[in-house]
Amino acid sequence: MELSTKLQNLPKQFFANLVKQVSAAIAEGRDVINLGQGNPDQPTPAHIVKAMQEATADPQMHKYSPFRGLPELREAITTFYKREYDVDIDPATEVSVLFGAKAGLVELPLAILNPGDTMLLPDPGYPDYLSGVTLADVRFETMPLLAENDFLPNYQKLSEDVKKQAKLMYLNYPNNPTGGVATKEFYEETVKLAKENDITVLQDFAYGAIGFDGKRPISFLQTEGAKDVGIECYTLSKTYNMAGWRVGFAVGNAQIVEALNLIQDHLFVSLFPAIQLAAVEALTGDQSCVTEQVTIYENRRNTLIKACKEAGWSVTAPKGSFFAWLPVPKGFTSQEFADLLLEKADVAVAAGNGFGEYGEGYIRVGLLVDEKQIIEAVKRIKKFNFFKETV
Ligand SMILES: Cc1ncc(COP(=O)(O)O)c(C=O)c1O
Repeated sequence: MELSTKLQNLPKQFFANLVKQVSAAIAEGRDVINLGQGNPDQPTPAHIVKAMQEATADPQMHKYSPFRGLPELREAITTFYKREYDVDIDPATEVSVLFGAKAGLVELPLAILNPGDTMLLPDPGYPDYLSGVTLADVRFETMPLLAENDFLPNYQKLSEDVKKQAKLMYLNYPNNPTGGVATKEFYEETVKLAKENDITVLQDFAYGAIGFDGKRPISFLQTEGAKDVGIECYTLSKTYNMAGWRVGFAVGNAQIVEALNLIQDHLFVSLFPAIQLAAVEALTGDQSCVTEQVTIYENRRNTLIKACKEAGWSVTAPKGSFFAWLPVPKGFTSQEFADLLLEKADVAVAAGNGFGEYGEGYIRVGLLVDEKQIIEAVKRIKKFNFFKETV
């Protein structure tokens, strides 16, 4: 049997290879420090797990969910956006419950584009955006995210043709992999660009809770007119360490939300009702777990940046997300440097070119191990004196 052409064309999972290499090294008994992945290391807070345990014991929870999610969850999402961002969301028409943000990101091109249409994607960017591109048979143009522009796309550099062709644009702030954050002005510019050129915007707010130095990341929907042009995808994966639970949502423009809901009516029923109730507890219960989690990431970030600087590595601290985006030393490609670190230092990192052409020259380091391991990882790297010439 042959796979359909569409499936054959799906992008190769760039980081599957890294996972394989790391597993092989661990199987050889090597003490690998894995800074390569994006899986939160801390457990889901106990009050959320308890809500789930109680809900699973209730036979009502064993039935099909309503197709578009439990009303309690839709209400909780509305309460969350009002409380956190002072944004009004209509639970009936402006919420789509998702099996994690990834589902919405992959579904949207299928839901609102036609084959051959053009999308705008950030480069470097989250690789799974390309899965939606291939499944919907659309094309894409990239928007480079450069250090000199704080990892925000420079809309002045988009050609008139590209602006006219583009029907859908993805943004992601706080950003994976660069750790950049968006400003109010940038979002205002985005709304203007979208209105002038009739572009739908999806802002991927997966790391919405994780901002450093006392600065909370802002929501795209706080921008005047944002709801006229787009949606924001949120996930409980990072904010509440619920990556395995698969629960997220999209909020914003009712027509776009309806398109997502419609495609999902045909693909799924909805999430396990007990997970939806646990999500209600996460979004509306005690939020001190979120502050504690962000402090953990911020401390790890500070430890990493301090250790790198002491090793002579000229690095910039990320402003948000749980990643650091570090330049590779002269004379190496991203892949060569990542391979070398794994081979010689037993430190796994993600090569920047896996996130796009403009990821070349960087590696991505996850702040997902404790500070002791971060210090040990930099110590191992320092031994090779890579950074002498850059000091
Ligand atoms: C930028 C970005 N968007 C979306 C996701 C997917 O999140 P979820 O677990 O909700 O599918 C991730 C996960 O790593 C991510 O990094």
